[in-house]
Amino acid sequence: MNEVSNENRFLHAVEMGLGAWQWGDRVVWGYQPGESDKGIRESFDVSLNLGVRFIDTAEVYGSGRSERLLGQFIKETDQPVLVATKFFPWPWRFSKGFIPRALKASLERMGLDSVDLYQVHWPSPIMSPETLMEGMAECVKEGLTRTVGVSNFWETRMLRAYSALAQKGISLASNQLPFSLLKRDAEKNGTLARCKELGIRFIAYSPLAQGLLTGKYSIENPPPGVRGSNYAELLKKLPPVIKTLQEIAQTHGKTVSQVALNWTICKGALPIPGAKNARQAEDNAGGASWRMTEDEVARLDEVTDHIREY
Ligand SMILES: NC(=O)c1ccc[n+]([C@@H]2O[C@H](COP(=O)([O-])OP(=O)(O)OC[C@H]3O[C@@H](n4cnc5c(N)ncnc54)[C@H](OP(=O)(O)O)[C@@H]3O)[C@@H](O)[C@H]2O)c1
Repeated sequence: MNEVSNENRFLHAVEMGLGAWQWGDRVVWGYQPGESDKGIRESFDVSLNLGVRFIDTAEVYGSGRSERLLGQFIKETDQPVLVATKFFPWPWRFSKGFIPRALKASLERMGLDSVDLYQVHWPSPIMSPETLMEGMAECVKEGLTRTVGVSNFWETRMLRAYSALAQKGISLASNQLPFSLLKRDAEKNGTLARCKELGIRFIAYSPLAQGLLTGKYSIENPPPGVRGSNYAELLKKLPPVIKTLQEIAQTHGKTVSQVALNWTICKGALPIPGAKNARQAEDNAGGASWRMTEDEVARLDEVTDHIREY
């Protein structure tokens, strides 16, 4: 493995994060202003109290509301928070100058001078990875972010970003990809292994498969909204997976969600589960600070191996 650079080291020490897409998103997560805010605030407080202080947001989550809520919460706590946000490469953002401008707008929403990690949310249809990384390097130079990451970059594109940054003396800190027991592409196509080899922190998004791996959903009780139709096929394959999770959970005195999150940690990832309330945040925090056995990881691998895509 390449040596992790000093500025990126903090990310490798983080075992578990908190995703903040839920904080303002109505379409997938059913956010309701006022109604959802208490739960969100509690999820933040409980996470910090349990040592989860790496929070992942993005300028597009709730059209800026997620960043605004996070900024407000940070102002009201004495506890240290590690902030990660993202640049969204809308097609009309066609040159590198859009990147520091977007970050400055994010910082303003959060009331911060800089973030710990700035990520390119998706590959751009217009800008090459090299151009994107020029914009990201500018953010580092201006002191707007400590480190640079990418998201939804599979291996080839990630390597281009990695090399482009390296030429500027910056190490790519992270790559954020979908990764869970029900979505193992990164493990199977080599991206996860390549991240480990290069010292790039692999951040697992949707580590609970958007709630499917908590054990509370089934064909008879599908998740509400768009998730219900998106996952109609996948729900059919779920029962043996949940059964294995339950068995392992029982052995360790853990919950199904905690075992599902722990599996991603055992694979070398940093999971960032989203949480809508204190109970979920507390449950998810318990996915870290322990390890299932290698045999248990193998059992979970086996029971999910045939699940290809969703
Ligand atoms: N880079 C990207 O393109 C990208 C894409 C997606 C997500 N992300 C990031 O990754 C984070 C996590 O991914 P995600 O939100 O898609 O999915 P996830 O973390 O797999 O699932 C989160 C959802 O599962 C349910 N849940 C969470 N913990 C639970 C618990 N302990 N018990 C019962 N239910 C629980 C909640 O929804 P219900 O209660 O409604 O079921 C929650 O909103 C996001 O917040 C975001 O920061 C990034």
